[in-house]
Amino acid sequence: MKIIPSEKLDKLPPYIFSRINQLKIEAFAKKLDVIDLGMGNPDIPTPNHVVERACDTIKNHSKTHRYPQAKGMPKFRNTVAEWFAGRFDVKLNPNTEVLALIGSKEGVAHLCMTYLNPGDVALVPDPGYPVYYNGVILAGGVVHRMPLLSENKFLPDFSKIPASVAKKAKIMFLNYPNNPTAAIVEDNNFYKEAIAFAKKYNIILVHDNAYSELTFDDYVSPTILQFPGAKDVCVEFHSFSKTFSMCGWRVGFVVGNEDIIKPLEKFKSFVDYGVPTFIQLSAVQALTGSRDCIKETINTYKRRRDKFVAELGKIGWDVEKPKATMYLWAQLPKKVKDMGSLKFSEMLIKDQGVVCSPGVAFGEYGEGYVRFSLVTHDNRFHDAALRLKKVLK
Ligand SMILES: Cc1ncc(COP(=O)(O)O)c(C=O)c1O
Repeated sequence: MKIIPSEKLDKLPPYIFSRINQLKIEAFAKKLDVIDLGMGNPDIPTPNHVVERACDTIKNHSKTHRYPQAKGMPKFRNTVAEWFAGRFDVKLNPNTEVLALIGSKEGVAHLCMTYLNPGDVALVPDPGYPVYYNGVILAGGVVHRMPLLSENKFLPDFSKIPASVAKKAKIMFLNYPNNPTAAIVEDNNFYKEAIAFAKKYNIILVHDNAYSELTFDDYVSPTILQFPGAKDVCVEFHSFSKTFSMCGWRVGFVVGNEDIIKPLEKFKSFVDYGVPTFIQLSAVQALTGSRDCIKETINTYKRRRDKFVAELGKIGWDVEKPKATMYLWAQLPKKVKDMGSLKFSEMLIKDQGVVCSPGVAFGEYGEGYVRFSLVTHDNRFHDAALRLKKVLK
């Protein structure tokens, strides 16, 4: 029997990450000593106090096995609002302006389904975190790419979006600190411009702040919601995945304009039951616990960043030190540029067992780059650079 999956699935671009994954499996099978700098999948353990909270809740609080409150239990939403006020000095109404998510990826995909009708346009950064593009396509929408170019410091140029496109657009995605380019917003006027653009064209402005806490060298990431008028048009996604190394726990939240959030809550109530209660309570523990674990995480990624940038420099591959995230966005050296990022990444795994993400997997404007995730032990980066040197030869 052959049953054909929906046309929507057909419209998705080939999932390049599964090709890389397959090669990784083959490398393990060949007993290669794999150095995995591919996915942004933290190797740092979840803080102990968070794990303890989960264990205690499961063991000793029997009612937590029941269906959770899908929008987030009051304790979760109140804690998010308090954390937000403390961290960003922005007040949120925990009843209407906070919604729990099964990770921000889930929230982004469902936001697209909540708002887009077939043919509606969404403005998507390219390169970008793939769920923006894929979420729009799955919802039947049309993607308008906003190129993130190095000459613009990887910020989109709003003046390049034709008015005819902007008029049809319903959602715009922004994400700083950025995945995959690791760029930050150096001049906050950018956010003000984005808000003005969204207001002018009546567009939902989605800011993905998944890396808000992973910043270095005195840079502190703002929330878009702190800028005047933001709450009229913006929602912001947050994640526990990177800040607290909880990517496998699947918990995040969206905050901001209540009229935008309400229909998302409604949509979600038809397709999921929310975040399990013991995970919500563990997330509360994460937000209310000491920030020392975040400081340690930042120090770890910073140490690895400095080490790997230095090691790459020694082999003649100059990469800028990013001020945020757990990534290096590295332009392919001239010698291998023509090969393209996918071929280069394939060769790197097959020949040397080093896994990275090809830039083209994040969109056509990501071509010419690869992304290295700093998610392996510090002492592996020297070896990774030596292997890269061999490939570049
Ligand atoms: C920009 C960005 N947003 C969201 C996510 C996903 O976060 P979550 O694990 O909360 O779904 C990621 C994960 O890599 C990301 O890079």
